[in-house]
Amino acid sequence: MKRTNYAGLTSENQVGQTVVLKGWVAKQRNLGGLVFIDLRDREGIVQLVFNEQENEEAFKVADSCRSEYVIEVSGKVRMRKDPNPDIPTGKIEVVVDTINILAKSQTPPFAIEDKVDASEDLRLKYRYLDLRRPEMMRYLKIRSKVTSVVHHYYDSEGFMDIETPDLTRSTPEGARDYVVPSRVYPGHFYALPQSPQLFKQLLMAAGVDKYYQLARCFRDEDLRGDRQPEFTQIDTEMSFATAEDIQTETEGLIKKIMKDVLDVDVKTPFPRMEWQESMDRYGTDKPDTRFDMLITDVSDLVKDSSFKVFAKTVADGNYVRAICVPGGADKYSRKKISEKEDYIKRFHAKGLAWVKVTADGYSGPVAKFLKDSSDQLNARLNANEGDLLLFVAGSFQVVCGALGYLRENFAHELGMIDYNKWNYLWVVNWPMFEYDEGRGRWIAAHHPFTMLNEEDLHYLEPGEDPHKAHAQSYDIILNGHEIGGGSIRIHQPEVQEKVLKALGFTKERAERNFGFLIHALQMGMPPEGGLAFGLDRYVMLLAKAENIRDVIPFPKNSKAVEPMTEAPGEITQEQLDESHLIIKDQKDKNPKD
Ligand code: AMO
Ligand code: AMP
Repeated sequence: MKRTNYAGLTSENQVGQTVVLKGWVAKQRNLGGLVFIDLRDREGIVQLVFNEQENEEAFKVADSCRSEYVIEVSGKVRMRKDPNPDIPTGKIEVVVDTINILAKSQTPPFAIEDKVDASEDLRLKYRYLDLRRPEMMRYLKIRSKVTSVVHHYYDSEGFMDIETPDLTRSTPEGARDYVVPSRVYPGHFYALPQSPQLFKQLLMAAGVDKYYQLARCFRDEDLRGDRQPEFTQIDTEMSFATAEDIQTETEGLIKKIMKDVLDVDVKTPFPRMEWQESMDRYGTDKPDTRFDMLITDVSDLVKDSSFKVFAKTVADGNYVRAICVPGGADKYSRKKISEKEDYIKRFHAKGLAWVKVTADGYSGPVAKFLKDSSDQLNARLNANEGDLLLFVAGSFQVVCGALGYLRENFAHELGMIDYNKWNYLWVVNWPMFEYDEGRGRWIAAHHPFTMLNEEDLHYLEPGEDPHKAHAQSYDIILNGHEIGGGSIRIHQPEVQEKVLKALGFTKERAERNFGFLIHALQMGMPPEGGLAFGLDRYVMLLAKAENIRDVIPFPKNSKAVEPMTEAPGEITQEQLDESHLIIKDQKDKNPKD
């Protein structure tokens, strides 16, 4: 039997016609003399009817079918007496005359439906069953549609799709490398790329001019809801382009994805926000602009305050900043606010001072200290009766971290976010370097190949402070998530050498790690730049999925394990010997635990 159409696409236009459908038994019900089967394929579900009196043979087969059997049927489409408004094919059904069972199935470990109560690990262990669920199929389709638009768009814009190696050397994007031992050279390792960064720059040296690739990247870092150890970038690079050119090119892609995938029109160009403003007003470098509640500096208003915490903070050259939670006075008890205060300790905030704005002035534990400046504070914070004012005093990092978190947390709780909005924006003009507390040293905020602003190049000269320099880098943000980032690259070897020096590389180490890049820069490197999107993260947002794992067909779980294949797994002694490896530690950690 040759299939005529997908079960889920059977339509009213086919009433009276004979169709041949193939798929899975989603549900089977015997009502005595009548069997109904919901037949599922990747496009959806259609109801099949088997009547014992009209076709006993088919009825018997249908009666023996169980969930997830694979069947083929042929039958006539007719209108249903009791339409089901919940499914697209709900107005019709197929009266079956022939049915064949193509494969039987054991009882699945969880029901294949959108509301699934199985644990995520069980879903991942039987991912092929999980992917049969319509919701998961929808995610796969959106992802496929996005990548199709990407290929069409960049092809039409004259970009070349070029592959770069997966077995390579370390590419510094700030995470740990996944390494692969060399059999041929004992003690030598390939690294899987954290991104194709250096190769795409070398492609510009080669004269490719415009490159793109859907590139798999590998980063051994702590996992979160929007991070995976293995993920895909929409990676691009352009020669002779300015930051503006790259941003415009990227906006064209986003506009097309939004239209073709979601049928949403977005307005370009997107707003550009300075990194400094993003930090000052939103407390983060990925601002969610779907709501206001902006952070406001009040250091000058409280510098002489009788509240010693505030006065001392300002005297020490640090900051007192605040947000005004509209209507928050009634909604937040002392206890609830103190829970928030506990939470923001993780940003090293020493406390959370607050007042409620009442008809009789401020109330709350620090009200007495702030009442003298209440008019000025209210004016600056745009505060009215019934609002809750939250203050954090501390260093720039601390006030940004704590108030940035509180701003988003209160907005969620108070329903201030319009989830139908698609707020894209660029955060531009980043600092070139940032201090990494964990490692106790300066690192590149983007990566070490990013070009500084021309007017900041002097900061690399002896006697100057390189850490004051800003870079020609930009991130693209959607609804408070960083979906992509890029920069104009350094194309002059002497600038590259100075930047590596500022990052603490000795000449020898720079030569050992990046000699090939510096040599390329010495042999006619065009000025150039690019950008990479996190495809998985972007699809997660487009599909409104909760987790990045939902839009990756076979992801790792939060412990970096792939429960179906049970990777990472042990290898045989022979493989260890071939790779010249000896396992040092007892294996006390098992991915199956
Ligand atoms: P960057 O490191 O900012 O830049 O990465 C670009 C985008 O990739 C996504 N991303 C991730 N997605 C899922 N899981 C992860 N672990 C993960 N890490 C990053 C993010 C991020 O915005 N070579 C540069 C780009 C360039 O300069 O052209 C780069 O890799 O959405
Ligand atoms: P303390 O003097 O430490 O008992 O704190 C008095 C009040 O000031 C408490 O409500 C604290 O939460 C608050 N507080 C203490 N340190 C800070 C700070 N760095 N920023 C904001 N509020 C603070």
